[in-house]
Amino acid sequence: MAAKSKILVLGGTGYIGKFIVKASTEAEHPTFVLIRENTVSHPEKSKLIETFKASGVTLLYGDLHDHESLVKALKEVDVVISTLGGQQIDDQVKLIAAIKEAGNIKRFLPSEFGLDVDRHNAVEPVVSFLAKKVNIRRATEAEGIPYTYICSNAFAGYFLPTLGQQNVTAPPRDKVTILGDGNVEAVFVSEEDVGTYTIKAVDDPRTLNKTLYLRPPANVLTFNQLVSLWENKIKNTLEKVYIPEDQLLKIIQESPFPANLMLALGYSMLVKGDCTNYEIEASFGVEGSELYPEVNYTTVDDYLNAFI
Ligand SMILES: NC(=O)c1ccc[n+]([C@@H]2O[C@H](COP(=O)([O-])OP(=O)(O)OC[C@H]3O[C@@H](n4cnc5c(N)ncnc54)[C@H](OP(=O)(O)O)[C@@H]3O)[C@@H](O)[C@H]2O)c1
Repeated sequence: MAAKSKILVLGGTGYIGKFIVKASTEAEHPTFVLIRENTVSHPEKSKLIETFKASGVTLLYGDLHDHESLVKALKEVDVVISTLGGQQIDDQVKLIAAIKEAGNIKRFLPSEFGLDVDRHNAVEPVVSFLAKKVNIRRATEAEGIPYTYICSNAFAGYFLPTLGQQNVTAPPRDKVTILGDGNVEAVFVSEEDVGTYTIKAVDDPRTLNKTLYLRPPANVLTFNQLVSLWENKIKNTLEKVYIPEDQLLKIIQESPFPANLMLALGYSMLVKGDCTNYEIEASFGVEGSELYPEVNYTTVDDYLNAFI
């Protein structure tokens, strides 16, 4: 069997990055994380960095804006996964330039981890945000860098603990707001599973120059199905307030940032069905739970049990 690729994670101390790092070490890939020197003394992140060390991660110090540090780090590895945050999407052109210079990278996974940025019906401000990821895709392809794009759909931990309700800290027990008619299928994937599927993809020829979509069948649910699942668990019927599409569009336009961004993501996902409203064709993509049926993914049903 070929040796497992050496993986460098940029953004490993971020929200999704830490799950990618964990999955990489658990799958026994030699794992490297590029860390900014100031982050080492950050009160919470320093603890995370200690857990990285304890699990055998090699820490490399550097910065996205320090070209030499990037090239040096890239030369140590075979695969680079970017989990840089929303503010750094554009600046991944610097990473692409470093990958070109290093010349040894077998696969690049840019910071995606959401909807397919080439296939959506979003409105502003989401359109502009997704356009940045599109630019990074095109720049990667133009440079001939081997890639895999991970379209993980909604992170369960972002959405399920509140059922997507604004300004709450727990799933609703009396009243729920539903965008659109609630009959559009969306997809919710636990962060651990995003990590697991992403790491499985890095050495898989079937995902080379393809998009890996995560649509685990038990987690493809309409909002109405989600609410009904929750109602069965709490043995209570919620009052349902539906926001029709035209009203939602008006609210998005009138809301300040970041509420408009969250609502516009909801519009794309829950009203237009952008997680599921196209077929995954072999020419451009593959689906994770089909490729890796051995993954015992966390179902939405199980996930919600933690909040009863
Ligand atoms: N599908 C969903 O539901 C969903 C939800 C959220 C995010 N996402 C997507 O997931 C991806 C990652 O987002 P996130 O929220 O996990 O990111 P995040 O928590 O904001 O983490 C950003 C990471 O980038 C690092 N970083 C920032 N500036 C850097 C620099 N100059 N040099 C090196 N590293 C730098 C940060 O390091 P420090 O620790 O040093 O600050 C941190 O590790 C994004 O593409 C985002 O759109 C998807």
